[in-house]
Amino acid sequence: MPIEFEQATADAVALIGDTKSLVRAVFSGRRRNMQPNAEKIELRPVQIKDEIKLQLIEIAGTTSKTSNIAPDSDLIIKHMNSGFANILIESVNQTMSIRFTKKGDAQVFIEASKNQQSLSHDKQKQRMLDAADPFLREVGIADAHGRIKPTKQDKYLQVEEFLRILVPALTSAVAADHIKISDSEPLSIVDHGCGNAYLTFAAHQYLRQIYPLIKVTGIDIREQSRLRNSEIAQRLDISESIEFRAEAIAQTEIENADIMIALHACDTATDDAIAWAVNHGSKLLLVAPCCHHDIQMQLLETPEPWPMVLKHGILKERFGDILTDAIRAQILRIMGYRTEIIEFVGDEHTPRNIMIRAVKTQAPLDQTAVNRYKDLVNFWNLTPKLSQLVKLPI
Ligand SMILES: C[S@@+](CC[C@H](N)C(=O)[O-])C[C@H]1O[C@@H](n2cnc3c(N)ncnc32)[C@H](O)[C@@H]1O
Repeated sequence: MPIEFEQATADAVALIGDTKSLVRAVFSGRRRNMQPNAEKIELRPVQIKDEIKLQLIEIAGTTSKTSNIAPDSDLIIKHMNSGFANILIESVNQTMSIRFTKKGDAQVFIEASKNQQSLSHDKQKQRMLDAADPFLREVGIADAHGRIKPTKQDKYLQVEEFLRILVPALTSAVAADHIKISDSEPLSIVDHGCGNAYLTFAAHQYLRQIYPLIKVTGIDIREQSRLRNSEIAQRLDISESIEFRAEAIAQTEIENADIMIALHACDTATDDAIAWAVNHGSKLLLVAPCCHHDIQMQLLETPEPWPMVLKHGILKERFGDILTDAIRAQILRIMGYRTEIIEFVGDEHTPRNIMIRAVKTQAPLDQTAVNRYKDLVNFWNLTPKLSQLVKLPI
């Protein structure tokens, strides 16, 4: 039934302020000729110490901002009046929805419903790495009180999400007997271009709880990294199962590893890392590439009709990135790996948020994959760095 706009908003604000029964409220859609404060607003009651507050989440694109406000805060009416078309309010015994019409009045629907209230503050994903784990403090991600440093939040999340993909991939590989672990063959992992070894230590600390027989090696060209990381390993008393080497990936003396991981190994260091894994028979590869220049620099003559795309510098750069990772994935397929490209973390945490995940299989050579690869590199007249580092059977 249509009612006055002011009446509808006053009813809605009263229901939202009733934190004893509010489950959640959602503001969405856009009224004609208006620009709401966010794409979507969500509100729900949360208990913080002895107080009940409203958790306010303002969502815009892939980002969101969360704050806790008083249940009678003016912000509620301010957001509601900023131009949202739909207001949904779920309370424990009813659901109310309001649709603001083009004419400026409101269609209100109320129905009886059973909704469950949760006052828990933390609705986030369960963390894989305990912020209080001493290794996070040692590597500089957490402070002395076991809190993640604001400047390290992004790296912490990158490492967490990397692990979130690594763990099930490893479990499946072990279950399928692709990776065999025994007293004489510990699970071996190499992290190429490990830098400050955030991921190296995280993988070691997390996985050793599941696979106590483990050997993790971090490789970085910088001696300074080796020194720093080895000292941390000593302080954590884990030097027996984690090792750091100052070597170029292409020259490392490490002979094999079940798993190769690489997080943002610069430019063609990612190609070196992939080639090392392929040439040394790693069963599982997880690689989040960094900057790309190899293919970018080979995009000199642009076949028609592609000049209409590549004449724009930014598109050329992004296209070069896409082509680089697509070629890497295709080479892995040709080399007998089941390969996918996925997003491993939101782009608000790093613009380099693509991951190549590859699992070695016994599948015969896929001629279609080979032909497609040849067509692509011939079309663009490319000699990808990775194709020179592995023995392609073509
Ligand atoms: C962008 S940092 C990433 C470090 C770390 N993986 C992380 O995510 O924090 C890249 C690292 O790769 C190392 N690196 C670059 N080229 C390398 C190569 N050819 N061999 C070994 N390490 C290399 C650099 O020294 C640097 O520490």
